[in-house]
Amino acid sequence: MSTLNHNLNNKPVGFFDSGVGGLSVYARFKKLLPFENTLYFGDLANMPYGNKTKEELISYARNILDFYKTKNVKAVVIACNTSSAQAYDVVKDEYDFKIYPIIQSCAKVIASSNLQRIGVFATEATVKSGVYTSELQKYNPDLQVKEIACPNWVPFVESSDYQNAVDDVSVQLNKMKLFAPEKIILGCTHYPYLKSVLTRFAPENLFIDPAEIFVNFIKNDMVLNNSQMTGSEEIFVSANPESFMQHSKIFYNVKKLPFLVLMNTMPEKILLH
Ligand code: DGL
Repeated sequence: MSTLNHNLNNKPVGFFDSGVGGLSVYARFKKLLPFENTLYFGDLANMPYGNKTKEELISYARNILDFYKTKNVKAVVIACNTSSAQAYDVVKDEYDFKIYPIIQSCAKVIASSNLQRIGVFATEATVKSGVYTSELQKYNPDLQVKEIACPNWVPFVESSDYQNAVDDVSVQLNKMKLFAPEKIILGCTHYPYLKSVLTRFAPENLFIDPAEIFVNFIKNDMVLNNSQMTGSEEIFVSANPESFMQHSKIFYNVKKLPFLVLMNTMPEKILLH
């Protein structure tokens, strides 16, 4: 193996999302590729992303990608549908590391699954972009896609308020059922946290969580770390580390209180523990 490849292999992979949602991708990645060194960034200062403008989402993505540049990453995983939909196309060529967006990375696999009618639950900003529809139809022009925005679901998840989620989930599912989808994509990384509520009203196999497809795509595409060491990890947030710890539990066991990074100045790390 060349020295160059060896160095690249050991560099960390950065992940980001507005909050805990991207941990649904991160946890699968850690399981599939436990030797990789990883970083996770939860942008809680700007959460939720789903009601933000394109300009705001581009600026958040650039802040985080600039931060990851200082961390010498080999790749960044946009474990957030909203940022993939609104910011990825603009920022993708601005950095010298590979950037993996969740929607664009999964569309080909989902579109080639012989389905004719597919539903998508996503944030308002993702639905507004129409990127799920355009990416899926790029690979299967006959596929009919119905996207529905669920603006209350991220706040339910970030506050672990599963009780109050029940009525809203039932309303959105009833709306979607009128379209008679064969499958429904959970097009926001927070939504798989609502699986226990969703499955009160519909069978589990109706839903596609793109996270599994996504991590397999990354694994096949990325220069892998061949060491047999357990990968290191560091977790960062732009606000509310305690809240992040508390609400992350369903998907991932965050062992240490995250580092707080102030994003509007140069990245600065404050050790909280
Ligand atoms: N979890 C993110 C997504 O996949 C963003 C949710 C939000 O902050 O609104 O779209």
